[in-house]
Amino acid sequence: MATLKLQAMFLFLALLMLKNVALQAHARTFFVFGDSLVDNGNNNYLATTARADNRPYGIDYPTRRPTGRFSNGLNIPDLISEAIGAESTLPYLSPMLTGQKLLVGANFASAGVGVLNDTGAQFANIIRMPMQMANLEQYKRRVSDIIGPQETEKLISQSLTLVTLGGNDFVNNYYLVPFSARSRQFALPNYVVYVISEYRKILMRLYELGLRRVLVTGTGPIGCVPAELAQHSRNGECSAELQRAAGLFNPQLQEMLDDLNREVRSTTFIGVNIRQSSIDFISDPGRYGFVTAKIACCGQGPYNGIGLCTPLSNLCPNREIYAFWDPFHPSEKANRLIVQNILVGTTDYISPMNLSTIMTLDASEKV
Ligand SMILES: *[C@@H]1O[C@H](CO)[C@@H](O)[C@H](O)[C@H]1NC(C)=O
Ligand SMILES: *[C@@H]1O[C@H](CO)[C@@H](O)[C@H](O)[C@H]1NC(C)=O
Repeated sequence: MATLKLQAMFLFLALLMLKNVALQAHARTFFVFGDSLVDNGNNNYLATTARADNRPYGIDYPTRRPTGRFSNGLNIPDLISEAIGAESTLPYLSPMLTGQKLLVGANFASAGVGVLNDTGAQFANIIRMPMQMANLEQYKRRVSDIIGPQETEKLISQSLTLVTLGGNDFVNNYYLVPFSARSRQFALPNYVVYVISEYRKILMRLYELGLRRVLVTGTGPIGCVPAELAQHSRNGECSAELQRAAGLFNPQLQEMLDDLNREVRSTTFIGVNIRQSSIDFISDPGRYGFVTAKIACCGQGPYNGIGLCTPLSNLCPNREIYAFWDPFHPSEKANRLIVQNILVGTTDYISPMNLSTIMTLDASEKV
């Protein structure tokens, strides 16, 4: 009887130790929220046209297959995972996201969404921000069932998060059609103020849910993407209106983040200036090994900027020398340049500090 008890006790202890080893072995948990720049396949599970699950998407991905990432290969979240020594997060809707895989984190993003609920209405079934955040709550309950509530809070507070939103609030809302509802409602400067105020609520909610290190990207060079050049440009110059929107949005975003940090008395929100990285390779593509930052690798029409990237599109043979993969999204190579600046960039690229500094700080606080 006593031996049996002892054996049971031993088994229990062994299991406990195993669980701790498993917990310690995984890298920092990583969460991703936002739009197509960071969606890694959630939309594959939804009835929507905003998806990247056809060839030649994924042509340079390790499997050489489309995954739902809007890239020829890896996207920005994959490269951040790589940098922090973690495997890529799975899409939250993936049936493979169970058990220990949950501890890696989750990607809640959905192509087509914006800060505002009405952004991307034409894509029908996408996961808008209130739902992405509800999914984080559900995630927490699922993880709690595995490691318990205390360890879950720790995992959440020590995690890293990436949020990428805003581009679609202009491209797929305000400027989607001439005289859109939002453009009749707001002059551009007032619309920007409104979007920023709604963005602030989203970020505050993420803070309330326990996240403490949140990288927040502004909009990319939305006026300079091949899709805009094809529609609005005569000589390859960027769309002035969209550039004006990005020019208003990005600095106000950084101000809002600084203000939020003061309110929560910590450096929780870190602003990432994707636009600056993109301006670098758009203004001097050769310096980064690109032959063009105007023509998409995959597409059709002027600048390969019309319509979608499909199996019937033009496809460039070498994706390393194109800054844009499709009419809207950077190539893996361009994503690497963006993530490099997130990692070790100056405050022109990431503010108030870069990811390598954050990682060092957090590692020293943990012990
Ligand atoms: C967006 O939708 C959520 C949930 O449906 C709602 O709580 C929120 O108020 C909406 N935001 C706006 C600005 O309408
Ligand atoms: C960014 O990272 C590099 C390399 O770790 C570091 O030397 C530099 O001071 C950092 N810059 C800022 C602004 O934090």
